[in-house]
Amino acid sequence: MRKLPYHLSGKLHVTGSSHFIADEAPLSGMLYAKLLLAPVAHARLIFIDTTQALEMPGIVAIYTALDIPGENQIGHVIKDEPLFPTERIMYLGQPLAIVLSSDPLKAERAVKQIKIEYEELKPLLDVEESDRAQQWYVPQRKIECGDVERALSESEYQLSGSIESGGQEHFYMETQRCRAIPGEGQQLTLYTATQSTMEVQEVLSHVLGIQAHNIIIDVPRLGGAFGGKERNATIWACLTGLAAFLSRRPVELVLTRDEDMLITGKRHPFKSLYKIGFDGKGRLQALDLTLLANGGAYADLSIAILERAMFHAENIYRIPNVRILGRACCTNLPPNTAFRGFGAPQGIFVIENLMQKIAEQLDLDPIMLRKQNCYRKGDNTPYQQGVVEASSPHIFERLCQISDYDDLKRKVQMFNANHTDCKQGLGIAPVKFGISFTTALLNQASALLWIYIDGTASLSTGGVEMGQEVSTKCALVVSRILGLPMDKIRVESNNSQRVGNASPTAASTGSDLNGNAAKNAALQIRGNLLPAAQSLLKERYDITAKQEDILFADYKIFAKQDPEQKIAFSELVRYAYNDRIPLAAYGYYKTPKVHFDREKGIGEPFHYFVYGAALSRVEIDLLTGEHQLLDTFIVHENGQSLHDEIDRGQIIGAFIQSYGWCTMEELVHNDQGRYLSVNPSTYKIPGIRDIPERLVVEMLPSPAIQASVLGSKATGEPPFIYGLSVYFAIRDAIKASNPEAETSFPLTPEAVLKALEGR
Ligand code: HPA
Ligand code: MOS
Repeated sequence: MRKLPYHLSGKLHVTGSSHFIADEAPLSGMLYAKLLLAPVAHARLIFIDTTQALEMPGIVAIYTALDIPGENQIGHVIKDEPLFPTERIMYLGQPLAIVLSSDPLKAERAVKQIKIEYEELKPLLDVEESDRAQQWYVPQRKIECGDVERALSESEYQLSGSIESGGQEHFYMETQRCRAIPGEGQQLTLYTATQSTMEVQEVLSHVLGIQAHNIIIDVPRLGGAFGGKERNATIWACLTGLAAFLSRRPVELVLTRDEDMLITGKRHPFKSLYKIGFDGKGRLQALDLTLLANGGAYADLSIAILERAMFHAENIYRIPNVRILGRACCTNLPPNTAFRGFGAPQGIFVIENLMQKIAEQLDLDPIMLRKQNCYRKGDNTPYQQGVVEASSPHIFERLCQISDYDDLKRKVQMFNANHTDCKQGLGIAPVKFGISFTTALLNQASALLWIYIDGTASLSTGGVEMGQEVSTKCALVVSRILGLPMDKIRVESNNSQRVGNASPTAASTGSDLNGNAAKNAALQIRGNLLPAAQSLLKERYDITAKQEDILFADYKIFAKQDPEQKIAFSELVRYAYNDRIPLAAYGYYKTPKVHFDREKGIGEPFHYFVYGAALSRVEIDLLTGEHQLLDTFIVHENGQSLHDEIDRGQIIGAFIQSYGWCTMEELVHNDQGRYLSVNPSTYKIPGIRDIPERLVVEMLPSPAIQASVLGSKATGEPPFIYGLSVYFAIRDAIKASNPEAETSFPLTPEAVLKALEGR
């Protein structure tokens, strides 16, 4: 049996011994926090009266906006979000006050005794209505190339209309939470479930009116995040930090599942208006697209998400004339936020929908149509980034091979000819995903590496471990450079005292950025150790080795010319220490080049692209609208993977998560802006039985002209696109029964039945 590479968290997880925030025993004197949540989505706030609630037994304190010592502001990119609203309630569930008690039940009872006076206003929920009222956080964004108007009018064929995609609940297993512990003076330590340690530290320092160095952020590991803790964790950390700072007691805030689903922001629903022009062979000529993002009550990350949607609106296709307009619209829903893919799935869904419609209209094979429109090497994207690798044609070929596509197509046709109650369909979803934060300054990272006297290592990075095993990947990098076995490397929590100013662990860049920083730290230590290694080899074996001929492997060092004469790494470390050689290093990395000019809509926002494609086959039941996912084939181009199994896990996990997004997960709110889908009984996420009957994942070890640490590529978000293949497969099956059908989003059984109506 092949030996699996080490997985740092695996054994801890399966034996139940990994530790999550607020899992630990309560601290002495610790208070539990409960929140008063706004009962309506939009209102003028007049008065909050806590007097009666404060008199309830066991209540230690209640804090509102009036108690904030610094700024009542938690907006980061745009400063539009108060910690507590003072004039206007902007979404249902917005925190208005925080109640502290050593007994959480008492705190909950006191919340109900707080009186609020408000004047209800009509909530704005619809994205188009918001757009008409010009309720944008910032003016419209634009990316343009060629002459769209002319190319459209000269196109042989044109399609126009609108396409919508829905929101999505993150459904991380660990709900939002924070434990804050006051220390000496103004010091405050936060164990907070965040992907963005720097942001929490900075924003909280403003809320409290203290210097950032007083605030220590520590993130041991998260029970999932998926973008939901990139920006959305800041508010809970600030509320908990405020409460601990004012009460001088440890405070813990843990949202219940229902609270979390009711009040936290989600994936942005998009509405897109399109015009596309093409010729009789299906060659794309022009695309005119307007993307509207429903951003919710505050800007949050909506601008960057909208931008990433725009950067992915042409996906893998070369379209000579393109205009992409984007507007992020404010509504009275909880502020929508980062979610795996960060707008790219919403953008790609539109163009893939159009490819499907074109294939249907011209009766072309959907893979052939896509293949002939792919980028070739040397093409430029609409924002003028050069396409260096252009792997899609090759990926399609491989996909057809591993799925035996022609045969599969025949099988589906045969099946459909012989069945009247059920139909099968095939769907395709290719991806080209840009890797880097589109906010260029975030593309930097640091690492701190210590070698202890026994030859073991302690590695700290700015990476937040949330199940993606950024810790294993960073340790693998150090392991390769210093020849350390994986069990000799401890990856520490993300702590602001060891690694300051850490960018969010997001944008799929966690391993690229932090792995490179760790690599640079390890290279320094190797550099420090080399002279000691030379002396030791000389002393011990009388070997004279050049530095570049000394190898570090299997916890030993040796000279290339004499590999039998080894010295234990721990011995080298002891020798170096005795010689007073530094055994720690700070590593820094920044992604080369990336930049983007927002005014001109031109630049190279991405370090590189990740490519892949998926093909799925489904069978739908025309009587119930239910479907069975029969086959999914995925070809994913990955560079030189640091860890095949972890990447495979990311690919399958992302596929299943997006499969849920577009076929099962339906976010419902009423016309008052209250989410009605607030727990698993009203919101269906995929389960273990939803895995396709046949699932084939092939990772193409590409030559990767463009890649990151040790030739690897990012894997977190790109495979999220593959789930769309199921959407298009269901659409294809519907069309087999009703060629006139139009499909909505998500394609739940109910939506399938609606599409079939009139057949
Ligand atoms: N991804 C995630 N977070 C971000 C990005 C991005 O591209 N840009 C700014 N914040
Ligand atoms: Mo994210 S959606 O954590 O970049």
